[in-house]
Amino acid sequence: MKCNRMVDVGRRQFLRGSLVGAAGAAAATVLPASQAKAQGLARVDYPSNRLANVADLVVNEPMDIAYPDADSPGVLLKLGQAVEGGVGPEGDIVAYSVLCPHKGWLMSYNAGDKTLNCPGHHSRFDCESGGQQIWGHATQNLPQFELRVADNGDIFAEGVDELIYGRLSNVL
Ligand code: FES
Repeated sequence: MKCNRMVDVGRRQFLRGSLVGAAGAAAATVLPASQAKAQGLARVDYPSNRLANVADLVVNEPMDIAYPDADSPGVLLKLGQAVEGGVGPEGDIVAYSVLCPHKGWLMSYNAGDKTLNCPGHHSRFDCESGGQQIWGHATQNLPQFELRVADNGDIFAEGVDELIYGRLSNVL
């Protein structure tokens, strides 16, 4: 009898603990972004770097850039038609890392099909579809730089949507 009571108490304490844990987890998942940022939870403060001016770009001619720092090469592209994540008057300006997400080889732009291509193991990424991988070994899409165009046409990079190859954090 005493033994049964002990088991019952134990069960109730276990359930109470589970409920508290679940409530804590639920609270953690609904933290507003501002509060999470204030607590320093896995948020990255990206620099706002000027890359070029809209007037500097020619349709389908890549411009070499670097973001968020000099050790992270990328490419700025005006694709000629509105695309995912595109900015500017035509919504066709995008920027990507050119370090292959597979093993970090430097990729080159193919103007024929608007892809970035890796000479290492031949991964290919579609610049018109947010850097989506269309072939090869990589296990993630290409990091796309978030852009903003100012009133005077200056193009700024202000974020990255995937982890840049070789980094534990995009901002070192
Ligand atoms: Fe690019 Fe392997 S390094 S596919």
